[in-house]
Amino acid sequence: MSLQLIQRRLSRVILILMLGVSLAQKNSFPDGFLFGTATSAYQVEGGWDEDGKGESIWDHLMHTQPNFTEDGQNGDVACDSYHLYKEDVRLLKELGVDFYRFSISWPRILPTGQVDNINQAGIDYYNNLINELLNNGIQPMVTMYHWDLPQWLQDLGGWTNPLIVDYFEDYARTLYENFGDRVKLWITINEPQIIQLGYSLPDLLAPNLNKSMVGWYLVGHHILLAHARAFHLYDAHYRAAQNGKISISMQSPWFEAKTNSAEDIEATNRALQFFLGFFAHPICSTEGDYPAVVRQIADNISKADGLTRSRLPYFSNEMVDYVRGTFDFFAINYYTSMLVTSGNSAGFLYIKDAQVEYFDDPSWPKTCSGCFKMVPSGLRKLLVYIKDNYNSPDIFITENGMPDHGILDDTVRIQYYKNHLNEVLKLIHEDGVNMLGFTAWSLMDNFEWKKGYTAKFGLYQVNFSDPARPRTPKASATFMQDIFRTHQLPEEDVSSEKQ
Ligand code: BGC
Repeated sequence: MSLQLIQRRLSRVILILMLGVSLAQKNSFPDGFLFGTATSAYQVEGGWDEDGKGESIWDHLMHTQPNFTEDGQNGDVACDSYHLYKEDVRLLKELGVDFYRFSISWPRILPTGQVDNINQAGIDYYNNLINELLNNGIQPMVTMYHWDLPQWLQDLGGWTNPLIVDYFEDYARTLYENFGDRVKLWITINEPQIIQLGYSLPDLLAPNLNKSMVGWYLVGHHILLAHARAFHLYDAHYRAAQNGKISISMQSPWFEAKTNSAEDIEATNRALQFFLGFFAHPICSTEGDYPAVVRQIADNISKADGLTRSRLPYFSNEMVDYVRGTFDFFAINYYTSMLVTSGNSAGFLYIKDAQVEYFDDPSWPKTCSGCFKMVPSGLRKLLVYIKDNYNSPDIFITENGMPDHGILDDTVRIQYYKNHLNEVLKLIHEDGVNMLGFTAWSLMDNFEWKKGYTAKFGLYQVNFSDPARPRTPKASATFMQDIFRTHQLPEEDVSSEKQ
């Protein structure tokens, strides 16, 4: 064989190998990328008053206003994970996840919210769950607060009481002390923006207060301080020995300008700053503190309304520094997107303050009738925005998923995850975003807050009319199992075009 021929053959082999590698890379999630599913305590545990657990604001709301939810149901039993946690871990193992994100019920551990009464049965329950996970090779990712505040603390004002920052620090200390030897991924608070709504609008979420923007700003301010306190506590006393990572899970839609007009683009920025920026700017930006546009609008409106001080409390310079940088990774929950235009004063809450209006794009498909729109491209745009605006942080998607009415053959959910995971691959391979992991919401159908059991997000179906609460895998569980186990999206599902 001539030297030329050998060279030609060799370069062909190299070309084929390179093509193979790039295809493999395109549909592969990198080494160390973590896949998991999530739930939260009130949504799955049940056992609402068992073994010394205290009353939470959700228990209280459900029992004092039994028709609050769309189906008149509550979370007293939910998926009964308080008794069936071993079955949950079996499902997780069957799925092949790397981690499980669950939350701890504050009043199960501290019935009044304070540390003078620690409920050992509650500590035992979470120890059992954590150990069961670890024994099955599954890492726990623990959310400290997923909306179920002890009612006792709510009676003292809940998140509007400045002392909540101290109470939260004590609670966090209890968790680090009891579980920190085994828990290496912590989320302090889930979706602060949604907690704000429970204090601002009626008929939506516990504690069901109607304190408008006064509640909204105040609750947001204290959440930022409480989160920072828990982070610094870990730094000062636990990080060296326990070596975990901490963040706060923010939720945001992608806000897309309805037109290219300067007005709509500015309005879109205001929407983003009032929602994502309200928490991300103080914690994750270089400058810290509230976004300038939020501060300016809040101050102006407060003044125009005849108040002597702004509804949005101020951070001292020292507090700006204290809150800034309190994250080891950027944790984000993404579900859908919205179109934005500059609006007048017809809106409510921060939508009114920000002077914006939201729309759906009619071309975006719905996930189910009466449900939100499926906009996978928004996930990519949101995460690129986070990369560009918050110094390229490591990013963990701590929730992504869609509701339907509970069918087993959930082909739309398969399509939803296919599309969103495709965007994650583009973020990794084309946008240079440092992606740490992806969390499917949810492991199983569960109590969906105001909607009761009418909206289902699970990979597993739960039969809520059977006292044994049997779980059955949906088609999406089989689809995700393949991805979780191989860390690859099937090649035929990879699309490179923008969606
Ligand atoms: C929350 C979950 C909720 C899910 C679906 C997220 O905002 O963290 O508790 O079930 O959305 O609505």
